[in-house]
Amino acid sequence: MIRPTTPDDSAALIALTVAAGMLSANETEALSKVLADYFGGNIDEGHVWVTDEEEAEPCGVAYYAPDMMADRTWHLYMIAVRPDYQRRGRGAALLRHVENALRASGQRLLLVETSGLPSYEHAQAFYAKCGYEKEARIRDFYATGDDKVVFRKALNAD
Ligand SMILES: CC(C)(COP(=O)(O)OP(=O)(O)OC[C@H]1O[C@@H](n2cnc3c(N)ncnc32)[C@H](O)[C@@H]1OP(=O)(O)O)[C@@H](O)C(=O)NCCC(=O)NCCS
Repeated sequence: MIRPTTPDDSAALIALTVAAGMLSANETEALSKVLADYFGGNIDEGHVWVTDEEEAEPCGVAYYAPDMMADRTWHLYMIAVRPDYQRRGRGAALLRHVENALRASGQRLLLVETSGLPSYEHAQAFYAKCGYEKEARIRDFYATGDDKVVFRKALNAD
């Protein structure tokens, strides 16, 4: 079941991002702060966290927010599925949920960014399978030799 994230999810979601390889155990403080700010109402308007839950346990998470400089353009800042639940269609369902929520309020474009390193080929394959087009590559963005790859989906095109 995909539902709004609650403060009670925070510890499980932080553990999930570590288990999914998005953060190392000593990089979780920033995410704790982002979640605390979100629940404290201390963030820009429009940011949304959603949790996918199975047997009362979070098994997936997505975080998206509008671009402040553009007309109805949104960024997917995070999507992760707990490793023991991956490759069962949950990530695709989570992404569809985000897209449908945005479409329902007339939003226009969703962008996702990932690394061009071979270790992120799974993420690129996932976005391509979910109907995203590779739009741009910013060479050496994350570090020398680590490019940023931007994918896009027009929300009113399908
Ligand atoms: C990316 C991620 C969210 C995908 O979630 P998921 O639930 O495993 O994805 P799904 O089962 O919905 O996969 C849908 C399709 O995407 C593609 N895909 C997903 N994972 C893939 C992988 N590891 N390798 C290649 N293709 C993959 C496949 O085409 C898959 O369809 P199939 O299983 O019928 O072949 C998940 O792998 C994850 O949490 N990874 C770690 C965090 C991460 O990298 N997030 C993105 C950062 S930019």
